[in-house]
Amino acid sequence: MKVSKEISQIIPYSPGKPIAETKRELGLQVVHKLASNECPLGPSPKAVAAMTQALNELHRYPDPSCYDLRQGMASYLKVAPDWLAFGNGSNELIDLLVRTYCEPGEAILTSQAAFLAYALCAQAARVRTVEVPLTADLRFDLTAMARTLEADTQNQIRLVFIANPNNPTGTVVTRRDFETFMKVAGGKKDLLVIVDEAYFEFVRTADSFSTRNYLETYSNLLYLRTMSKVFGLAGLRLGVLVGQPAHLDYIHRVRNPFNVNSLAQAGALAALGDHAHLERVLHTTWAGLDFLTTQLHRLGLKFWPSEGNFVLFDTGRDAMAVFQALLRQGVIMRPVVNYGFPTLLRLSVGYDVENHAAISALEKVLIEIRPNPVASKF
Ligand SMILES: Cc1ncc(COP(=O)(O)O)c(C=O)c1O
Repeated sequence: MKVSKEISQIIPYSPGKPIAETKRELGLQVVHKLASNECPLGPSPKAVAAMTQALNELHRYPDPSCYDLRQGMASYLKVAPDWLAFGNGSNELIDLLVRTYCEPGEAILTSQAAFLAYALCAQAARVRTVEVPLTADLRFDLTAMARTLEADTQNQIRLVFIANPNNPTGTVVTRRDFETFMKVAGGKKDLLVIVDEAYFEFVRTADSFSTRNYLETYSNLLYLRTMSKVFGLAGLRLGVLVGQPAHLDYIHRVRNPFNVNSLAQAGALAALGDHAHLERVLHTTWAGLDFLTTQLHRLGLKFWPSEGNFVLFDTGRDAMAVFQALLRQGVIMRPVVNYGFPTLLRLSVGYDVENHAAISALEKVLIEIRPNPVASKF
């Protein structure tokens, strides 16, 4: 069957290797998955109770307007309810943004090694991705991105995607860089800027920013949040896009009316109200991240300070070989070759016992596989 060149050239997104598959393939009893930036504590018990209750109503179609969830999310994000559009994960919203706002042949602008969904959704919609190189410390180069916008006199670039913090690098954009960038992007015709804040709650540095604070200043600014990370609901699929109702109106026309199922609506609403669970997740994650980075330092491995629930580090070796050897030790990490980093691995924060298992496995594997300084560009 004939398909377009763009579709035939898509390299499918490769998710973290599943636990069951690893156990089956390697005959292992215990496997720790620290590969998908998931929440080790799982969902809030209140969310589980609300979803259990909602099971009895599964013969009904979900509320297409997500009324109750909309009120809860509006209050959590401190925006008006009609400034929200929900999606089947923020991934669906990224896809909807591209399909709604870009014509085939037009472009999105993002960074090298940005979260892959932006480029993948663009490619599926026959939209070009303009990528600006990262800075030497693996941050988005907003100065170069602003220059790219200024050079785009034909207004071919319709959307800008900024991940803050970014996955897989874990780095953030500083408030100052963002403000300078918006002085250019905020005045561009027919351009929307989307800040993806999937890891927002984990950020500890005071150097970054909340997009919420700029919504009133820039009418072409929107942001994304997800219930998949700090709320531990990755399997439920719930993301939210925040922006002016006039922009979201088009998204509502394009989206499937029942794109957010009733369990997701009930579970997400209850999760938003469980502040104690959120606090527990944050403290466990921060303690785990501090442990992992201390240990990476002890092992003499370069890592990039992360503001997410994961850390990117340089094995100094062929990362695929290290990844395979770690699998045999029962630990799943995430290779990032597809982001252009052949010696790096991304390690998600898990429970204490998982973090310890990951470090001891890594320590063993690093002895087994000798360093290859030529391979690493860092
Ligand atoms: C930066 C970033 N944005 C969005 C997502 C997707 O989140 P969701 O599960 O809501 O589709 C991820 C998931 O890993 C991510 O890292």
